[in-house]
Amino acid sequence: MRKPIIAGNWKLNNTITESRELSTQLVTGLKNTEDREIIIAPIYTALSAVAEVIKDSPVQLAAQNCYPETKGAFTGEISPEFLQDAGCQYVILGHSERRQLMGETDHFINQKLFKVLETRLKPILCIGETLQERENGQMLEVLSAQIKGGLANLTAAEMATVVIAYEPVWAIGTGKTASADQAEEAHAFIRRLLQDLFNPQVADQTRILYGGSVKPNNVDELMTQADIDGALVGGASLNAEDFIRIVQFEPLS
Ligand code: PGA
Repeated sequence: MRKPIIAGNWKLNNTITESRELSTQLVTGLKNTEDREIIIAPIYTALSAVAEVIKDSPVQLAAQNCYPETKGAFTGEISPEFLQDAGCQYVILGHSERRQLMGETDHFINQKLFKVLETRLKPILCIGETLQERENGQMLEVLSAQIKGGLANLTAAEMATVVIAYEPVWAIGTGKTASADQAEEAHAFIRRLLQDLFNPQVADQTRILYGGSVKPNNVDELMTQADIDGALVGGASLNAEDFIRIVQFEPLS
């Protein structure tokens, strides 16, 4: 059984004080969540403060990015080692905003992934097609290239801690969620690809999250799909009440 993950990507939001407040609200409001993992990803400067608030709680800490070196002359960058030092358990890699705004390539994301796997941090690899790619009928090709590029040269054993997030770019921050069927189609495709690239066990065990306008009113239907193992939540993760409701999803019967 794959343990579901609900992860909040706070993006470039919340001061240290606001981050402390929001994480305190989550720690206080979240009850009986043993059967699911909960992750929040604040900005770098708030990581240590949030780590302090969530210690001894079920909430885990993620960073939103990292650089594929341990230390040295890399001005402005942060390594997986130092994120671990700040209290992180997870790190998001290859978010579409980084691909689009910072020009991150599959190759660069793959280098980060290898570096992350040298630490105890667990990577959340984001992939997803743009609206134009979907309309041009290139969705599966794009997802396949991003999976093959991002996971290049990984062994099946190294896949044990890797989480994948399918986030159609056209659904991020737009209020347009992929329908549960559209999301399930992509997730099932990704799982088949993992089977081809690695083996049936990797395909069966890898958690694939959906991201893109996940809200309290659509999470239950999304989580009802066979191949959707959780959610990566942007906007709705900035509101404690909404995020708590998303964490408390119940698949429809
Ligand atoms: P959204 O963002 O929930 O605001 O669409 C999701 C994400 O970018 O991870």
